Amino acid sequence: MKYNGYAYIYTIGCQMNVYDSEKLASILTSYGFEKTNDMDKADIVVCNTCSIRHKAEEKAFSFLGRFAKIKKRKPHLITVMAGCVAQQEGKKAFDRIPHLDIVLGTQAFSRFGQSIDAVKSGKQRVVDTKDSQMIYESLPDTSCFDENKTSRFVTIMQGCDNFCTYCVVPYVRGRERSRKPESIIEEISLLAKAGVKEVTLLGQNVNSYGQKEDQISFVQLLAKINKINGIHRIRFATSHPKDLSMDLVYAIRDLDKVCNHLHLPVQSGSNKILKKMNRGYTREKYMDRILDLKKQCPDIALSTDIIVGFPSETNEDFNDTMNLLREIEFDSIYAFAYSDRSSAPAAKFSEQIDEKEKRERLNTLLQLQEHYTEKKNKKLIGKTLEVLVEGKSIKKRDGFKQIRKNLEQMVGRSESNKIVHFPSEHVTISDIIKIKIEEAYPHSLWGHPVGA
Ligand code: SAH
Ligand code: SF4
Ligand code: F3S
Repeated sequence: MKYNGYAYIYTIGCQMNVYDSEKLASILTSYGFEKTNDMDKADIVVCNTCSIRHKAEEKAFSFLGRFAKIKKRKPHLITVMAGCVAQQEGKKAFDRIPHLDIVLGTQAFSRFGQSIDAVKSGKQRVVDTKDSQMIYESLPDTSCFDENKTSRFVTIMQGCDNFCTYCVVPYVRGRERSRKPESIIEEISLLAKAGVKEVTLLGQNVNSYGQKEDQISFVQLLAKINKINGIHRIRFATSHPKDLSMDLVYAIRDLDKVCNHLHLPVQSGSNKILKKMNRGYTREKYMDRILDLKKQCPDIALSTDIIVGFPSETNEDFNDTMNLLREIEFDSIYAFAYSDRSSAPAAKFSEQIDEKEKRERLNTLLQLQEHYTEKKNKKLIGKTLEVLVEGKSIKKRDGFKQIRKNLEQMVGRSESNKIVHFPSEHVTISDIIKIKIEEAYPHSLWGHPVGA
């Protein structure tokens, strides 16, 4: 069926959800809805949800909860819970949000239209959380792109088979499955034609891309993407340390478009905790991988994910993580307090850590890292970096606006994934320009275009 009206989409969660929300937008467009950024105008509201931590899940419930009142004065408004919380909760979602119309699981995108039709014809509380080995594929609809048209995500695989004991992903996203290389290449070629210069390939463990399907390997896929005209930069996330191959290390070194940056989540520096997390590597193995990377790609920027306060984590275990940060000196980290997820095995582990203690460990860790992040950034002062211009500078960050109140600024990223701000004169979005770095802040750099 074709409808009229506006669609508002609110996205919580990881990059994969950002990508999925664009797919949801293009489905809604094909059903006649127009995408809007004004929630008040909406005739259909979709919340694309994340259940990785308790806080993300609560955000989804509180966002959708607001519509109880709004629906009283706007009864035709359709509300949709999509994504990971939807998959996890199924019809239980209605217990907390009685006015919700559609629960759309992570593998139900191809049937989204049918669910809307059902609601439009009077059906209440439609749930679709059926599993599917298929990956919903549709060619990118550039009219649904958000502001940043020059750097795009491309999901290359879905699900996860690793079953880390703290993690909900295998339960809410299903088993690991990879897209066909031809379809990925076609999508990226289309993006390149639309002016996209950078792609970030997404999967929970990109190193095992194609293995189950007996397709080309991830490294072979990178080599193919490296040949696509118009694409200047290739990034990817996430790499699992247990599967990071030397071939991939060489690919980062040798393929000119693959960026000199790797996100390699370690989660903990303690072997005891890594084992309980079921990560499949030891601290020593992780360190070996890092040494290989630093040896083959000397200037590589490294980032990681850390969980503090995993059940039974002692001060000693926590110190192992602190020492790992000191040894490696990451460019940046994402650190989280362990959050109990009832569907993941660790929820039943003994010796759960007190919330206050988790917060304290998290703050201690973040403080330590800030020192290294700033140190790494300061090293770049005086250097000239190639920057892909992504858009106008957003306020808030690092006092830039305060320092240069009356100056129009733009922002982009270096190959090493550093955020760089610079004056916007003679610069357009999507340009790749050289910036001489003059100042370094905890989360970004400041400089001027060279030759301008
Ligand atoms: N597939 C990726 C990460 C997916 S989730 C990987 O294996 O690295 C992103 C990050 O969220 C994880 O790396 C982990 O640090 C964090 N995370 C996952 N589950 C969590 C939980 N229950 N509590 C706190 N952090 C969690
Ligand atoms: Fe979760 Fe582990 Fe899979 Fe990453 S590898 S998505 S942390 S189960
Ligand atoms: Fe992503 Fe959150 Fe789902 S991290 S895969 S949206 S649980």
